[in-house]
Amino acid sequence: MSSEPLSNTPSESREYPAVQIDGVSKSFSGTVALEPVWLKIRRGEFLTLLGPSGCGKTTLLNLIAGFLEADEGELFINRDLVTQVPPHKREIGIVFQNYALFPHMSVAQNVAYGLRTRKVSKAETEERVREALALVKLEDFADRKPKQLSGGQQQRVALARALVIRPRVLLLDEPFSALDRNLRTAMQVELKEIQSRLGLTTVFVTHDQGEALSMSDRIAVMSRGRIRQIGSPSEIYDTPQNQFVSTFVGDANLFAARLVDSGDDGVTLDIEGTGLHVSTFQEALPEAGPVTLFVRPEQCRLTEAGAPGAIPASVALSVYQGSHAELHLDCPSAEGGRVMLRVPAGEALAAGTPVGIALPDRGPAVYAREAGA
Ligand SMILES: Nc1ncnc2c1ncn2[C@@H]1O[C@H](COP(=O)(O)OP(=O)(O)OP(=O)(O)O)[C@@H](O)[C@H]1O
Ligand SMILES: [Mg+2]
Repeated sequence: MSSEPLSNTPSESREYPAVQIDGVSKSFSGTVALEPVWLKIRRGEFLTLLGPSGCGKTTLLNLIAGFLEADEGELFINRDLVTQVPPHKREIGIVFQNYALFPHMSVAQNVAYGLRTRKVSKAETEERVREALALVKLEDFADRKPKQLSGGQQQRVALARALVIRPRVLLLDEPFSALDRNLRTAMQVELKEIQSRLGLTTVFVTHDQGEALSMSDRIAVMSRGRIRQIGSPSEIYDTPQNQFVSTFVGDANLFAARLVDSGDDGVTLDIEGTGLHVSTFQEALPEAGPVTLFVRPEQCRLTEAGAPGAIPASVALSVYQGSHAELHLDCPSAEGGRVMLRVPAGEALAAGTPVGIALPDRGPAVYAREAGA
């Protein structure tokens, strides 16, 4: 096998971004699919675009690939301005959700396709196809037709076909969503291994937060055509910058609160008569008035009903989860009337039991109330 890396990543070019998106936007017949986006994707980075259906993930990916033309803004790959460059000249590898393999061609011919169109010699094509198939562990399947492969194997062929051209950037749009859960997890690990081994700049689209948290160097959380936060998985999970991100990534309990006072060391809240002082990282809060307190299940503690400072609630349902139980509580001060927390499986309580919820004074975030977040 040749020792040359599959990615085009010259070592002297590490200081500028692999992809730079400068104010790129897109509308379809008057409807905004993507507000102007500014984003620098680092060399060798695994960046995930995460967000609900229709938020503009595929639109942004297609703009990077060149399948869509931007309404405004500029796009650079390495330092090359590519805004007007057609897709096949951008040297980008693409993997879609629905494999899109050529059914009449063998696995090897499918993988070789991008090299044939680039007029690579026969000997080099054979070598690079062998190398790409080895990378996705399909050396022994070169002569099969796509329909003789499982879904996971077909998706690996699609990956090999994208890698064989030694792309400057690899783009993947929900590549594993058609696979069952076990296969999906296995493919996530394989992709991550290949990506970090090759140091390949990768943009990965998903609406699955678990997939995003486990695979990414950075996540860009999107809603309604905008990037709402960009950061490492732990930054996104531990310090969500707004209510949308807090509820889209991870489990969240939200309490309707009134901001009573704010100072340098945090804020004082009133939650239906219960006072709480919270040291919070959140900026840009109103002076006073309605706010939302956001608390992860693991930050809530179960305590006795009527305990000082505890929020009153009662057990609605206890769901056995093997290692622990999920306790769903009826709680009038919570948004949606429910709070979820986790307790050891042996400590589950009967429905109707009155309890108190002790909230932490460090860690939770407070947001200005966001309409329709
Ligand atoms: N060719 C098109 N013509 C008109 N509207 C479009 C077109 N492509 C996308 N849109 C609209 O642009 C918005 C963003 O679509 P996009 O496909 O980028 O969403 P997405 O985040 O990829 O969603 P999903 O998770 O469902 O794939 C949506 O409201 C969609 O209806
Ligand atoms: Mg999409």
